[in-house]
Amino acid sequence: MFSWNENPQNERIENMAKVTFVTESGEEITENDGTSNLMEIARQNDVDGIIGACGGVCSCATCHVRVKSEWLERVGRAGEDEQDLLELEDRADERSRLSCQIEMTDELDGLVVEVVPL
Ligand code: FES
Repeated sequence: MFSWNENPQNERIENMAKVTFVTESGEEITENDGTSNLMEIARQNDVDGIIGACGGVCSCATCHVRVKSEWLERVGRAGEDEQDLLELEDRADERSRLSCQIEMTDELDGLVVEVVPL
């Protein structure tokens, strides 16, 4: 029987890239199960304000986040389809992305995004 620190599976999770979601109420939720896109990670961890109604096919915008300015270059800008959808959002700005379109990678370890609920 492994303790938390001795379990190789837990050690693997501990070493995964971390992302912090800042909800509209100011709550900060940091997760390190960086194996999928940000919308999936948020949903798996019940982050308030991320719905992901379309399942991640870039057609609903219920996964809207704003990337912290210092991360914009590394995360990259929205693609054409994503940008078209964001243009319909009243609360979108130059930092807006759809979290289903951001794959979590080791390069994004420490990423901070603000949740923008509908
Ligand atoms: Fe629908 Fe991201 S989950 S656009």
